[in-house]
Amino acid sequence: MNSQKPTRNLALELVRVTEAAALSAGRLMGRGEKEVADKAAVDAMRLVLNSINMDALIVIGEGEKDEAPMLFNGEKVGTGKPPLVDLAVDPIDGTRPLANGFLNSIATVAIAPRGTMFDPGPFVYMDKIAVGPKAKGLINIEAPLQENLEKIALSENKSLNDLTVIILQRPRHDELIREVREIGARIRLIPDGDVAGALMTCLPESGIDALLGIGGTPEGILAACAIRAMGGELQGKLFIRNEEEKKLGLKMGYSLDKVITMDDMVSSNDVFFAATGITDGELLGGVRYTGHGAETESLVIRGRTGTVRWINAKHNFDKLNPISEIEY
Ligand code: FBP
Repeated sequence: MNSQKPTRNLALELVRVTEAAALSAGRLMGRGEKEVADKAAVDAMRLVLNSINMDALIVIGEGEKDEAPMLFNGEKVGTGKPPLVDLAVDPIDGTRPLANGFLNSIATVAIAPRGTMFDPGPFVYMDKIAVGPKAKGLINIEAPLQENLEKIALSENKSLNDLTVIILQRPRHDELIREVREIGARIRLIPDGDVAGALMTCLPESGIDALLGIGGTPEGILAACAIRAMGGELQGKLFIRNEEEKKLGLKMGYSLDKVITMDDMVSSNDVFFAATGITDGELLGGVRYTGHGAETESLVIRGRTGTVRWINAKHNFDKLNPISEIEY
């Protein structure tokens, strides 16, 4: 027997990062100000990230460094002490729904050992297929859709008509939607938030069997961290928007046609993931303000053990505000 003492679960520290982002950005729900909400989430995330004992390199951040205090790609956060890790952040996945007061806006963070996360470079979009543990090893993003859906259905012991596929509602998916309809599977269209959509494939109670379609590359890496930890599978292919992106990608050494496997996206099982709901969603409830405080709902996942925790927190602003740099 190879027994070990329990080790540190960084995800339990990361949840304070996503809670802080959600609490700060949640105040701005429905105010129509995407940038202001994003800045509030970023500032809160940065503050808590810098309190965690880790030497974290941001691989998936808020883009290139500029004047604004963003969490930019290549930036280091944490106290600088070991462990050395790669960090992926999406302070608000669903800035549009948050600004409009719609559903499914979450704050997310993932961590993996240094050098194990895929750097998406200039590529904003990725074609994705995500499934839960039962269909792991059976999918192939390059195979015909019918073949993939049949294999997923078989793994679930369901007929094709009972499958539910989640797809971002975008004109670019019109053909995909038409094809899925023709095959006979059920479709759940979401206006935004394909990190939550991908994660739901690994939570049988969600009723979602697969995520299909083109979404953000950073969101794909974040989802891959959580899905790897939960035993499912996510595959991707870079979606090239224009000649300029293609040229830059080739110059940077990317193979544009290659299938990006889950191992490419994150090559270690020692991953940690946390997400907190900002607005209400299917995966997580949003922030509820209660007068002198607020309640949050978070998901905390650790790859090494496969533990998935839902954490409901009650935050007391009367106690927090006098001692915190973030104004809740
Ligand atoms: P942001 O809030 O970060 O903009 O992302 C929301 C989102 O719906 C993602 O979940 C998804 O991957 C991406 O946008 C899709 O991009 P687009 O809205 O450009 O189709």
